[in-house]
Amino acid sequence: MNRKLLVSDARHFRVEYEINPYMHTAVQPEPGAAVAEHATIVAAHRAAGREIRTMHSAPECPDMVFTANAALVRGDCAVLGQPPPERKAEMSYFRDWLTRHGYDVLEAPYPFSGQGDALACGDLLLAGYGQRTDRRMHAVLAQELGYQVVPLRTVSTRWYDLDLAVAVIAPSRLLAYCPEALDAPSRERLHDLGMELIEVCVEEAERFALNLISDGSVVTMTRGAPRLAAALAAHGLRVVELETTELAKGGGGIRCTALTLDNPLPGEAS
Ligand code: ARG
Repeated sequence: MNRKLLVSDARHFRVEYEINPYMHTAVQPEPGAAVAEHATIVAAHRAAGREIRTMHSAPECPDMVFTANAALVRGDCAVLGQPPPERKAEMSYFRDWLTRHGYDVLEAPYPFSGQGDALACGDLLLAGYGQRTDRRMHAVLAQELGYQVVPLRTVSTRWYDLDLAVAVIAPSRLLAYCPEALDAPSRERLHDLGMELIEVCVEEAERFALNLISDGSVVTMTRGAPRLAAALAAHGLRVVELETTELAKGGGGIRCTALTLDNPLPGEAS
């Protein structure tokens, strides 16, 4: 998993509105630094042997660098996201790209944050709700993509997407999560999965520690979370830590900048 990723670029990345608590229009990314930061992340994916698909960002879409919200993809089927109104203009570009590349594209009937709120974990889908995803989407994702859904409710706008609160490190084996970000029944559901769980503190999670990409052997993550980095290394993973200070001004990190295109089909998961 996570060996084939769709990324865009940070050429038009800016903070034009405030739709999460990390965004402040008074604090803008430095354009050159943002482009360089994003390019470094993409280079790290390539160095880890991941296949990269790219699409250009559009000038009128200041958040388009965060491709994870565009859809959830499994096999040749993609369920498009239904983002907040400020990001609606992105969707036609993603719809076109996915259609042109042979995916069966489905519109979401309810608000849906795409992969931001839908973390594939083998045949399970860790599916967020309570913020940007309507819980009714879970049945749609189960039906259309064949996932067994594990509903997880995040408790505050600080965790406006599940990918800030939970990370899949190795499907069926290892997850990392911030306990304070989930309600009690959701924490219980995670424990009941019987996988090993790494707990991440609020301070590191707020610095986008969990917004990482793991292919099961290399983890690409932000630099501001030494405790999580050490825990992952102790589990035998190779950890690549990168600067994400510019992306953080938009309320995002490494996971948000890549849409996974190789989620295994039913039964294929390892
Ligand atoms: N500014 C973007 C938004 O609020 C950031 C999205 C980050 N994506 C993510 N998957 N967490 O929509």
